[in-house]
Amino acid sequence: MVKKISLVLWGVVLFVAWNALILFFLWTRPQSFSDHSHLTEEVIRLAQDAEVELERQKDLLHQIYRYSALWTRRKADEAKKHHLSAAAASAKPSTAAPLSRRSQISPDATLPVVVIACDRSTVRRCLDKLLHYRPSKERFPIIVSQDCGHEETARVIASYGDAIMHIKQPNLSDIPVPTDHRKFQGYYKIARHYRWALSQVFRTFKYQAAILVEDDLEVAPDFFEYFQAIFPHLLADPGLWCISAWNDNGKEQMVDVAHPELLYRTDFFPGLGWLLLSDLWDELEPKWPKAFWDDWMRQPEQRQGRSCIRPEVSRTMTFGRKGVSHGQFFDQYLKFIKLNDRFVPFTQMDLSYLKKEEYDRSFLAQVYGAPELRVEELQGNQRRELGTVRVQYTTRDSFKAFAKALGVMDDLKSGVPRAGYQGIVSFLYRGRRVYLAPPSDWTGYDPSWS
Ligand SMILES: *[C@@H]1O[C@H](CO)[C@@H](O)[C@H](O)[C@H]1NC(C)=O
Repeated sequence: MVKKISLVLWGVVLFVAWNALILFFLWTRPQSFSDHSHLTEEVIRLAQDAEVELERQKDLLHQIYRYSALWTRRKADEAKKHHLSAAAASAKPSTAAPLSRRSQISPDATLPVVVIACDRSTVRRCLDKLLHYRPSKERFPIIVSQDCGHEETARVIASYGDAIMHIKQPNLSDIPVPTDHRKFQGYYKIARHYRWALSQVFRTFKYQAAILVEDDLEVAPDFFEYFQAIFPHLLADPGLWCISAWNDNGKEQMVDVAHPELLYRTDFFPGLGWLLLSDLWDELEPKWPKAFWDDWMRQPEQRQGRSCIRPEVSRTMTFGRKGVSHGQFFDQYLKFIKLNDRFVPFTQMDLSYLKKEEYDRSFLAQVYGAPELRVEELQGNQRRELGTVRVQYTTRDSFKAFAKALGVMDDLKSGVPRAGYQGIVSFLYRGRRVYLAPPSDWTGYDPSWS
C-alpha cells in the first residue's frame, strides 16, 4: 500500500517536473512566449530536416547504385562484347533504336489502366474517379496490382467486384539490401512491384500499351480523352517514349488554366499517370533496376534522347501524404498542383503540331523569338508590354538561382530540368508566359548538372 502511494507520488513529481521543464523551456526562448504554435513549428521543422537528410542519403545511395550498375555492365561488355548495351550507353538524341513492334500496334489498341497499390485504403478515391470518368470499360480495363498484402486495402479493392481486375504481387519477402540501406527497403519493393506488374500486363495479358497510375492519384475528367487522343501520335513518333498526365511545374498560379488544351514535349520523364508501349517494356525489363526506377528512367542510357508529351495543366494530382518518397515533398509542392477541371475534347483536335520536326520548328521559334528579360525585371513586374519573355541561363548555378527565384522546380535529373524541353522550361509568372532557356546554340544536356 505504502509502496503504491509512493509510486503515485513519484509519478506526480515527475509529471510536475516535466511540465515545469517545458514551461521553463518556452519562457526562456526569445519571441516564443507569445507564439503558441512555435513549438509545433519547431517539431515540424525537426521532422522535415530528418526527411531532407533521408532524401540526401537516398541520392547518395542512388549514385552508388548507378556506378555499380555501370561497372557491372562494363564487365559484361568486355566478357561478351554485348554490342546492344554498348549502343545504349552511347545514346545520341533522336537515334533511339528502331522500335520493332511499335508499327504493329493499332491506334485503337486496348489501353489498360494499371493502378499500383500497396497499403493505402484511400485507393478508393483513385478508383472512384477512374470509374466515374472512364468512357469505355472495353477500351480502358482497370487492373489494380496490389503489393504489401495489406488486408484492409485488399478488401477495398475487392469491393469493386467485376468492375476492376485485382492482381497481387506474390512475393512479400524483404529484399536483401546492405544494412545501411535498410531505410530504402520501400524503394526496392516499389521497383520489384513495378517490374512484376508490368510483366503481368505485357507478358501474361499481352497488352500492347498500358497507363500506369499510383494509388494516391486522382484523375481529371478528361484523363482518358487525353491519353486516347495522344496515343496515335506516340505510335507514329519514335522520338517519343511516353505520354504523361503530369506537369512538374503545375502549380495553379504557374499554369494557364484558361488554356488546358496546351500540350508540350518534355525531355524529363514525369511519371505520375503515364503511358508506355509494350516494346519499351521489352527494352527496359532485362535491365530493370533494383530501386529508384523513376530516376533510373531519367538517365541517358534509358531515355536515349526520347521525350514525353505532358499537359500545361496536370490531369492527375496526388492526394496522399503517406508513402516512402512523399512527406515533405507533398507538403511543399505536390499538394499545390492544379488538377484540370475542364474537359478538353482532345480527340476532336488536330495534334499534329506535336510531331518532333514541326514542334521543334514552332516551339523554338516562339522561345527564341521572345524578348529577353532579367529575373529582377520580371520580379519587379516591369516591361509588361513585352508579353511573352525569355530568361536566359548559361550554367547549372544560374539555372538553379533563376528557377528558385521564379518558383519553378530547380532540381535536375541527369542534367534535365523538370518539365524541360531542350533545356527550356515554360511556365507562367505573375500572369505572363516565361521561358527559362539556355542560349540558342544549346547542344545538349550535361548529365553532371544535378
Ligand atoms: C522473393 O524475393 C526475394 C528478394 O528479392 C528473393 O530472394 C526470392 O527468391 C523471391 N522468392 C520468389 C519465390 O520469387
